[in-house]
Amino acid sequence: MSSEQIVLVVGASRGIGLALLQQLAETPNTKAIGSVRATNAALDVPNATVLTLDISDDDSVLKAASQIPELDTLIINAGMGKKDPVTTTSTAELATYLNVNLLGPHRVIRAFLPALRARKTRRIIVISSSSGSIGQQALPGSIGLAGCYGTSKAALNMLAVQTHNELQKEEFTVVPIHPGWVATDMGNAHGPGGMSPETSAKAMLKLIDGLTTKESATFYRFDGEKMPW
Ligand SMILES: NC(=O)c1ccc[n+]([C@@H]2O[C@H](COP(=O)([O-])OP(=O)(O)OC[C@H]3O[C@@H](n4cnc5c(N)ncnc54)[C@H](OP(=O)(O)O)[C@@H]3O)[C@@H](O)[C@H]2O)c1
Repeated sequence: MSSEQIVLVVGASRGIGLALLQQLAETPNTKAIGSVRATNAALDVPNATVLTLDISDDDSVLKAASQIPELDTLIINAGMGKKDPVTTTSTAELATYLNVNLLGPHRVIRAFLPALRARKTRRIIVISSSSGSIGQQALPGSIGLAGCYGTSKAALNMLAVQTHNELQKEEFTVVPIHPGWVATDMGNAHGPGGMSPETSAKAMLKLIDGLTTKESATFYRFDGEKMPW
């Protein structure tokens, strides 16, 4: 039997997702699949398979999932984030955050469950944020994008925990990871100083590779340190 690991990165067009896909495509015994949301977007990643998937659209997610019968590791990286304080941002805009950062992962997890169940690895990784750590944000001088973004990422963390609770008996491993401060379109909103996407992706793939069911429902930082919920 082939030991090849099938790994999907949802949201691989740029930034952290692209770096994850590039490194997975160079990993031995790995079938790397990346998703982009635009049907005409080409990804220049040799050895990677490219899917079209808009995380905010039910039909798009279901159509993508119908093309993947088996999957070992699902990495949900797609997300949106700007500095939008909750007290000055409209409820409609907060709903957009929730649609992309919370309902999007929910759509993707549900759609890809049959493919994950078809293999034994059964690993679901959601790319979260320190902005979603209630423990950190409740401290004086909250850091990161905070606001609407942090609200959506805290909800994403709870989605991960509830998914773990429901799938634990089937030996799933469900883990949210904070990728650190990374110099991407999103991360550069804080100014210069973030680490390279390659550095964050390399550390996260090392962490993901070592995860077992024992670590499920733990919130990690990219370097393997535990994050407070
Ligand atoms: N950068 C940081 O410092 C930092 C810190 C903490 C957490 N994070 C998290 O890390 C993840 C990646 O962030 P990044 O810094 O790489 O951001 P980025 O450069 O802004 O990239 C965002 C990615 O998400 C995709 N995306 C957005 N909306 C989507 C949708 N509706 N459907 C499918 N894909 C969608 C984008 O695709 P398009 O190209 O089509 O827009 C792009 O691939 C996010 O979940 C973010 O919240 C980042």
